[in-house]
Amino acid sequence: MMTSSSRRLEGKVAMITGAASGIGECTAKLFAENGAKVVIADIQDQLGQKLCETIGSSNSIYVHCDVTNEEDVKNAVDIAVSTYGKLDIMFCNAGISDPNKQRIIDNEKTDFERVIGINVTGVFLSMKHAARVMVPAKSGSIISTASVSSNVGGAASHAYCASKHAVNGLTKNLAVELGQFGIRVNCLSPYAMVTPLATSFVGLEAEALENVVNMLGNLKGVTLKTDDVAKAALFLVSDEAKYISGQNLFIDGGFSIVNPSFNMFKYPEEGV
Ligand SMILES: NC(=O)c1ccc[n+]([C@@H]2O[C@H](COP(=O)([O-])OP(=O)(O)OC[C@H]3O[C@@H](n4cnc5c(N)ncnc54)[C@H](O)[C@@H]3O)[C@@H](O)[C@H]2O)c1
Repeated sequence: MMTSSSRRLEGKVAMITGAASGIGECTAKLFAENGAKVVIADIQDQLGQKLCETIGSSNSIYVHCDVTNEEDVKNAVDIAVSTYGKLDIMFCNAGISDPNKQRIIDNEKTDFERVIGINVTGVFLSMKHAARVMVPAKSGSIISTASVSSNVGGAASHAYCASKHAVNGLTKNLAVELGQFGIRVNCLSPYAMVTPLATSFVGLEAEALENVVNMLGNLKGVTLKTDDVAKAALFLVSDEAKYISGQNLFIDGGFSIVNPSFNMFKYPEEGV
């Protein structure tokens, strides 16, 4: 158990979209452990309610919220404010991928639009309704889950890559707009890790996926877990990051800055 002085979000109210599973679920638990009241917003009602029971009903509430539906997003933010009195933190995390079809000529417009609808319009609506209540309060922190695909090409589908570039763009634009109100806006860009989204995209079981991810990753000897993203989210929304805004924080072990054209750093005595 943490003491109240070591809890970094004591007295804060956080809403997390896509909180019923994966990164969102892990972050909801970590935020609650750190003293936050958490609004779990998702479309997977059973999983969301179960998570709420795990965290404790005095610290969390589940709200059915399809991020593509503005009424749902407005309602979830209003429930946060009516239940807990305010909204300090919005984590726009809900996201999907489309089927893994590498050639653009095989990609369907409907799949493309579905990804953009959830990953971009969903983030836009979550940001909009967070701003609606944060601006009058003149404080708040908004973060979103982007991806290494917000920076590099060829790591995911066209729709996914386009959508995560857009999340970074929205982050920058909103950080500029809301800075005058003391509201910080940032995003997180993880490399790949085991979650239902990733296993279904690649079509591999958890262990096999981790083996591939570790083989392709830059940083060896460690495996990226949802917990690592949750900890980065905790840092960005906490007072420790009080002057950080407009940033895209990569949690990728250097994956996105490797230049694969060169293979410069050899250690023959280490067998590499
Ligand atoms: N897993 C990875 O390797 C990885 C890497 C980089 C970025 N991401 C991003 O992390 C975020 C979370 O994904 P995850 O990997 O934890 O996957 P996940 O599938 O475990 O979680 C995504 C959650 O979003 C919810 N969701 C989907 N559509 C929604 C909608 N319309 N409205 C509300 N909620 C909706 C799902 O029900 C699910 O609970 C996504 O934005 C994803 O793009 C994941």
